[in-house]
Amino acid sequence: MAKLSLIVLLALLFVGCSSQRDVIVVSGTTLNAEQIAQGQQLYAQYCASCHGVNGEGQFPNAPTERDATGRFGAPPHNGNGHTWHHGDAMLVEYVRNGGMSLTDPTNWYPMPAFGEQITDEQIMLTLAYIKTFWNDEQLTRQMQVTAAEGERESNPLQINPGG
Ligand code: HEC
Repeated sequence: MAKLSLIVLLALLFVGCSSQRDVIVVSGTTLNAEQIAQGQQLYAQYCASCHGVNGEGQFPNAPTERDATGRFGAPPHNGNGHTWHHGDAMLVEYVRNGGMSLTDPTNWYPMPAFGEQITDEQIMLTLAYIKTFWNDEQLTRQMQVTAAEGERESNPLQINPGG
């Protein structure tokens, strides 16, 4: 019995730890816990008002439905969303340049361009934090998508440093 509760305890610890990640890779750069914590602050400051503090999205109960204004809201970034289906280069670019909503404001709430407000490095830190919302399988799949984006695209930070 004691052995069983120890196993249960270890299992709980493991589940608890799996959302707490020590390192995250974004665009080929490995970021440590301190950098991920910086990303959390940036996320809280620039993203959480629309995408939710825990990445649950603007309309967590109906993320894929239009609201009374006829528009879709900011999607979830957690494992319930589809952010993890995109590679790093695409995600960096999206945050830098803003979303498709900018040209289609009647169907979407706006996803602003952050390229003038925060640096590429800050975008990378923010994405590192977003990646902590994903489970191991989602992280692995997203790494494969990133690898498939090709060498040039998978490292946009070196193409456009600080911009
Ligand atoms: C003013 C509200 C708002 C803020 C603030 C905001 N977003 Fe968005 N975001 C949206 C909306 C609405 C969409 C969906 C429409 C679109 O794609 O243009 C979106 C879409 C996205 C997407 C692409 C969809 C996906 O998940 O695959 C990414 C990535 C994203 N946002 C990241 C961020 C990050 C990172 C921040 C903070 C730096 C941020 N957003 C801040 C509203 C916002």
